[in-house]
Amino acid sequence: MSYLSYFAAGAAVAAILVAPEVALAQNPDRRAAELLRKMTLDEKIGQLTQIGGLALVPDPLTPEQRVHNAQAGSILWLSDPVSVNRLQHVAVDQTRLHIPLLFGLDVIHGFKTVFPIPIAMAASWDPALVERAQAVAAKESRAAGINWTFAPMVDIARDPRWGRLIEGAGEDPYLGSAIAAAQVRGLQGAELGGPDSVLACAKHFAGYGAAEAGRDYEAAYIPDELLWNVYFPPFKAALDAGVGTFMSAYMDLNDVPATGNAFLLTDVLRNDWGFKGFVVSDAFAVRDLVTHGFASDPRDAAYRAATAGVNMDMASRTYLDNLAGLVKSGQIPEAAIDKMVLPILATKFRMGLFEHPYADESRMAAVLGAPEHMRLARVAAQRSAVLLRNEGHLLPLTKDAAKSIAVIGPLADSEFDLLGAWQAMGVKSTAVGLPQGIRDVAPGVRVEFAQGVEIHKTYPSMFDGLMGGPPTVPWPEERAAGEFQKAVDLAKRSDIVILTLGELALMSGELATQSTLDFPGKQQQLMEAIVATGKPVVLVLVTGRPLDIRWAVAHVPAILHVWHPGSEAGHAIADLLFGDAEPGGKLPITWPRQVGQAPIYYAHNLTHQPENQSRRAWNEESTPLFPFGYGLSYTTFRFSDLQVKPGEVTVTIENTGNRAGDEVAQLYIHQKSGSISRPVRELKGFRRVSLAPHEKETVRFPLGSQELTYWSSALRKFVEDATQIDIWVGDDSNAALHADFTVAHSTSAYPAGKPDNSMQSPPRPQ
Ligand code: NOJ
Repeated sequence: MSYLSYFAAGAAVAAILVAPEVALAQNPDRRAAELLRKMTLDEKIGQLTQIGGLALVPDPLTPEQRVHNAQAGSILWLSDPVSVNRLQHVAVDQTRLHIPLLFGLDVIHGFKTVFPIPIAMAASWDPALVERAQAVAAKESRAAGINWTFAPMVDIARDPRWGRLIEGAGEDPYLGSAIAAAQVRGLQGAELGGPDSVLACAKHFAGYGAAEAGRDYEAAYIPDELLWNVYFPPFKAALDAGVGTFMSAYMDLNDVPATGNAFLLTDVLRNDWGFKGFVVSDAFAVRDLVTHGFASDPRDAAYRAATAGVNMDMASRTYLDNLAGLVKSGQIPEAAIDKMVLPILATKFRMGLFEHPYADESRMAAVLGAPEHMRLARVAAQRSAVLLRNEGHLLPLTKDAAKSIAVIGPLADSEFDLLGAWQAMGVKSTAVGLPQGIRDVAPGVRVEFAQGVEIHKTYPSMFDGLMGGPPTVPWPEERAAGEFQKAVDLAKRSDIVILTLGELALMSGELATQSTLDFPGKQQQLMEAIVATGKPVVLVLVTGRPLDIRWAVAHVPAILHVWHPGSEAGHAIADLLFGDAEPGGKLPITWPRQVGQAPIYYAHNLTHQPENQSRRAWNEESTPLFPFGYGLSYTTFRFSDLQVKPGEVTVTIENTGNRAGDEVAQLYIHQKSGSISRPVRELKGFRRVSLAPHEKETVRFPLGSQELTYWSSALRKFVEDATQIDIWVGDDSNAALHADFTVAHSTSAYPAGKPDNSMQSPPRPQ
């Protein structure tokens, strides 16, 4: 049940039990309507305005003045309870109607306790873990005064050049939907308004991840079939999980900017899906409707965004400066402004802000970075790591045998980069480096560290300063040569090398497109020189996006991908290296061989001469380096006994090795014929299981009309009623265990679909 219907149901029960005036007071929609009646037009427009809390949003007035003038309904980017309370006091004590403010910040993967970046969390294939991590992020945010986070980002991303790939759950709508819903449940809790929950925001609606060539903010062209079958489902799943707000995207979708796009914001979101919360624009996106060559001037931009369905203007003050004029000239009726304001006020009532507007400043010290939060961050980093290669069972290392370990590489001890992009602003987080992590986990071994090489960004961006990345001055040539040699010498005198290579945190995230997937800097040379020493090498990849690791796959026996793992990086990596934790993560993205393959994803359609699919390019395989869903374990698993029953698929997984481990059972389908071509494979179920040596488990996947339904422009929501469906179950998207069945009109378990206006979200995985 969504929280909206939850509240509706709750209110209905309350109405029976308590006096009518009390029941009325508890009903957020009624309270919002009552309050609205008392508001002037200017006060209403104030509620539609989000003001920047930091100097980096230029404004002739201070945030205090804006709030005092009732010109702000929300503040962007303030993240400490003292400043929050100061402004909240102005709103509550000094304005006529005492309407409290919403404080919004990008808490994307943790606040003080930093979890692995979102794409890594998705690699855990563990929605329950994702939910718990976001519940911790919500609790810490709330203790710092933040009551609204701009998460989850649920944009599907199929191009590794796009830096924001790290903020979502990858390329697949089914996995993306499960992770989106889990994040909403974690952030908002069972009941919005609890002391530890924050308002969530599904962003960026919609299609932002389809930026051409991965160039951030670039236009997206997405045909209807892809919109409904691939890009929309995670948003619908967030909505079904009760998400309170949506954020409109920056880019043009099919030539109409998403922030002025009535198809997206009104036809789909409000009319088709029945969204009752409010939409905030992305930062400055209302004003930027002019930049797009869509609106003629800021007044037209305000008109176009407001009439398309954007309730709140983030940071640009275009609504503040223009909406009153548009109402006075009769272009926008005041009733339309009322409709924009109501869900904002109702959300504030629903969150209990009128009763509890202030942050409890005394909670901060005990809540932020609490030991149990850090323990969860360690588990999350363990469960999100993906073992890509392990020739000759080099891993796990034994604590006795590996007497001296060389930890080498520019990211192994770089605190900021181990935390990843979108570290919450305004609070200093810490990360355990890998040398320290190994010392703590395996105190008997000797650990020495050498950085070897440096990494620099070629072009700085505004986020470097905003998020506080360490400024680096390149080493002079002589020093660079010396550091390189030191690393090689260290490798030579050690028993084993843990080589930690990848990308800086801020090489992914917003405004962080890469035109190449090569290791930045001299890391490739360092890797080749270290491998040439003949010592056993474990490559630990610290990166948001997949990199070109063809050489490594041919020459380095063990490769563990840990993404940007967060606060407990060093401990979690060491746990995995020594087998105190079992790697069981799976890739939520297809891993290309090289940049020329981008965009690449598993759920493509079969076309002419599929048998030649692997030879489409004359100089490279067309298959990826690693398929979607791929990841190894220290043990082995066998899938057997695949059975298709009415409405259900079952399969048995057995741990065939001698150590405990995790496997993710993945169910894929393919429709053999129908009214449109469907992808060669589509994920329709998954489950991560932990099995003791030789233990077996039977996993059940529901497979009914919900999983078989797709969008066809001619028919809208649709299930073919006479077609054959292939089924595969296994450990990645190349799974071999196969069955098929016929969807027949007469088969009651697979009812034929009727045209219908609503998308169904996938079920919660068990
Ligand atoms: C721009 C980003 O696109 C969006 O994701 C973020 O939430 C806002 N800025 C606010 O920081």
